[in-house]
Amino acid sequence: MEIAVTSSAPDGAVLGLVATEPPSIELAGLVATGEVTTKRGNAHVARIGDQRAVVVGGGPRDAVDADVLRDAAAAIVRELRTTTGGAVAWPLDEALPLPLGDQAAAVVEGALLGSYEPGAWKTVTREGAEVSAFTLVSEGDIGEAFRRAETTAGWTNRARDLVNRPGNDLTPETFADYAFGIADGLDGLTAESLGPDEMRALGMGALLAVGAGSVNEPRLIVLRWEPPAPARNDLLLGLVGKGITFDSGGISLKPATHMEDMKGDMAGAATVVAGIAALAALGIPVRTLAVVAAAENMPGSGSLRPGDILTAANGKTIEVTNTDAEGRLVLADALWYAHEQGATHTVDFATLTGIMARALGDMYAGVFANDDLWLNEIVSAGESSGDYVWPFPLHPRYRRMIDSEFADMKNSSLRGVGGPIYATSFLEEFAGEGPWAHIDMAGTGLLTWSRGDYLSQIGGTGWGVRLITALAERLSTP
Ligand code: BES
Ligand code: ZN
Ligand code: ZN
Repeated sequence: MEIAVTSSAPDGAVLGLVATEPPSIELAGLVATGEVTTKRGNAHVARIGDQRAVVVGGGPRDAVDADVLRDAAAAIVRELRTTTGGAVAWPLDEALPLPLGDQAAAVVEGALLGSYEPGAWKTVTREGAEVSAFTLVSEGDIGEAFRRAETTAGWTNRARDLVNRPGNDLTPETFADYAFGIADGLDGLTAESLGPDEMRALGMGALLAVGAGSVNEPRLIVLRWEPPAPARNDLLLGLVGKGITFDSGGISLKPATHMEDMKGDMAGAATVVAGIAALAALGIPVRTLAVVAAAENMPGSGSLRPGDILTAANGKTIEVTNTDAEGRLVLADALWYAHEQGATHTVDFATLTGIMARALGDMYAGVFANDDLWLNEIVSAGESSGDYVWPFPLHPRYRRMIDSEFADMKNSSLRGVGGPIYATSFLEEFAGEGPWAHIDMAGTGLLTWSRGDYLSQIGGTGWGVRLITALAERLSTP
């Protein structure tokens, strides 16, 4: 699908319109006769003069926000795919309570994210028509907002591709190959991959132990974005991702039902890899380091066992009480490495606990931080990007749940309450100095049920890529 901006509608394109309450002058007649409705989400095919249009209900005009426009753009693409296909022209609307740049960004995101196809492995191609072009029509100064949204949505879809790749295709090694590939294609972005020998030299006993049960060896994948003229030389944004290419649980094996979804246990890693690529592609002037702890958690004769005691790269010892709490183990060494490499402001992205998915479902991820200003930056970036995060608490008293009789800490607690918080107390032991936040995206990284909105496809969502670009933009503007 070609995506563009012009100042007047191209000939022959189907108009994409939102019917709000009250409707625009253009749509008032059609709303009055009931040919189209303003009810949110309904898509109707209509004629305006001699032009064909797809009109999507947008609800009350005062309440139109970026999500309403994302949903509408996605609904139009879907409607045309099941009918005639062709080109869409979307006029931006001065009467909406949203600046034109924000409208442009939302519509581009809706069109690109909404038309994503997860069935890359099907040998029979999808039935239906192609939407060949999606053109925004506006005389406003929206070029920059358009470019940012198009690039960010493109990388969001690449993160979805990664999440959707099954464990027999995406291994720690092929994940590293992917990182080398994107670094080759983007100026200022470099990639590096550390294997087991290098990890041993650095003392990464936690990441190594998780990877030891699989024939697919672990990798620490490192990407660096060095902008030509950084906005601040004292800042290095550290993005750390959980990259478990398949989480069987290990010796503490998971139940069979839905275990296939655990191919998506590298969603946090996909987010930071696609996120740093988006920063480089957009040239956002924030020095950034992405660190991915990639491993496959499998039962095998080399596996870590319940009861094993590991020494992480920062020298702390961990008693493994559950091999399925592997995310915090691999992140321990990756967080340490990010700080070792000079990260001043860190965020980790991880599908860490099933309980977080139960708590927040598929719209919000949970965020924890050791610094209130940093937490607020991340919450605000989430709000403006559409990748929403909700704050959870940290308190020293929670630490007792991971106290071990044998080692400095244990990796899981038998108390069936507060799991995501104990997991974060664990990570805090490795987060080092400076502002750090942990995002638990277990519910948002991979969908097993449609969200029913512009992210209606199940599978990887690319959740967090938009948050990363919004966060870096905030950091680059004083
Ligand atoms: N990858 C899982 C968490 C997960 C579950 C993500 C469902 C997405 C959907 C993680 O490694 C895990 O197994 N966590 C355990 C922690 C427990 C053993 C302390 C969990 O959530 O049960
Ligand atoms: Zn697990
Ligand atoms: Zn996991």
